[in-house]
Amino acid sequence: MPEINKKVLGLSGRAKEKLIQKMLEKRQYKESHAHVNVKRIQRRKNIPEAWYRFEQFTDYQQICMQKAAGKELAIPNPFFRQQTGVAGKNCIIDNQEYINFASYNYLGLNGDPRVSEAAKLAIDEYGTSVSASRLVSGERLIHQQLEQALTDNYGTEDSVVFVSGHATNVSTIGYLFGANDLVLYDSLSHNSIVQGALLSGAHRKIFPHNDWQAVDKILTQHRMEYERVLIVIEGLYSMDGDYPPLPEFIKLKHRHKAVLMVDEAHSLGVLGAKGQGISAHFDSDPKDIDICMGTLSKTLASAGGYITGERALIELLRTYAPGFLYSVGIPPASAAASLAALEIMHTEPQRVQALQNNGQLFLRLAKQKNINTGISAGYAVIPVIVGSSIKAGRLANAMFQRGVNVQPIFYPAVEEKSARLRFFISNEHTADQIVQTINILAEELEKLN
Ligand SMILES: Cc1ncc(COP(=O)(O)O)c(C=O)c1O
Repeated sequence: MPEINKKVLGLSGRAKEKLIQKMLEKRQYKESHAHVNVKRIQRRKNIPEAWYRFEQFTDYQQICMQKAAGKELAIPNPFFRQQTGVAGKNCIIDNQEYINFASYNYLGLNGDPRVSEAAKLAIDEYGTSVSASRLVSGERLIHQQLEQALTDNYGTEDSVVFVSGHATNVSTIGYLFGANDLVLYDSLSHNSIVQGALLSGAHRKIFPHNDWQAVDKILTQHRMEYERVLIVIEGLYSMDGDYPPLPEFIKLKHRHKAVLMVDEAHSLGVLGAKGQGISAHFDSDPKDIDICMGTLSKTLASAGGYITGERALIELLRTYAPGFLYSVGIPPASAAASLAALEIMHTEPQRVQALQNNGQLFLRLAKQKNINTGISAGYAVIPVIVGSSIKAGRLANAMFQRGVNVQPIFYPAVEEKSARLRFFISNEHTADQIVQTINILAEELEKLN
């Protein structure tokens, strides 16, 4: 019997919940304070099972603890729920239709017949794979067409597409920076940015969220200790739904001769009148972003990632970035789908407008009901912060029971005390769906507290 079940035996209601919450928090504390004690390891006579048995890995025990907690508290597992059909404003799970806020189909282009048709035609023309790295016989016209369209969108010089968005960050940061460099990234950065910084072997500093003054201070004191300095921010933060003061970061990077990278995973199709991204939102020159990164998996209805910027940067990545060089070229169907989606984004700006209106409506109604949406700016991502994994799990389950599919977010994706539900907004949601969802949310939150 897992530890958690033994400990809560005989307890009921509030006491059980409190103890489980404590255990989850203790585990998080232990993990964040874990360090390697080399001397202790050297003195050891036996090799503990935890070093070679997966079921004793700390992370596996965390999974077991969460599952056991869910069982004890009668909260069904909200992960890996199988869906059928295309996930848009609605989705279907177990033959049941739900209002869907769990998919980043921001402009409703996944499932658009023109996008699907483009993917089908690409399969007819090229097959389902390019069967090689782009460098060595995997290059196809559709890759170049997509890269040109991305370059045109940003007004940059060139672009390169990778097979995965996550790998784009890991490989780009990991390749471009090294031991003599400094990577500065926001405390709410996506995992792919953190992994890239780790891989690079550069010195790393995490700055408080959006705090450009803190970055300025660090660089005023320490700039001369490093060769290259990279500052990484996101166009729209994926868990909190706010955006950075881009003009301040641009001034900063000029002042300190640093390189500025912006991850536009959640801002392409979302910010700017035509969804061109954060530069358009601030009416700033896209060329002031040295490394502009984005993914094909959100607005662009496919899978993959890209970097756009100056010619030399793109040529460097095409020639040396391991995640590009040593990985297969993006499948033609994925490239064609994203190209078609990008074209539609430009020709139908009313989609972007509808998404922005929906986001603002959701945020306004939530605030009217005193729902804690944190720092969200009311675009594509709106969290509802409840403060513990148990509450988030309970609330997501209650919403699901009432016909709304929304994902809870627990530690380690966010800190335990800021566990939440995360709502992805789409241009396709109707005002009625949003009003209905906020009303249900307010009622269920009331019951929860
Ligand atoms: C900010 C950010 N960057 C990168 C990624 C990775 O993109 P992908 O899921 O397309 O691999 C994500 C994924 O959600 C993200 O939120």
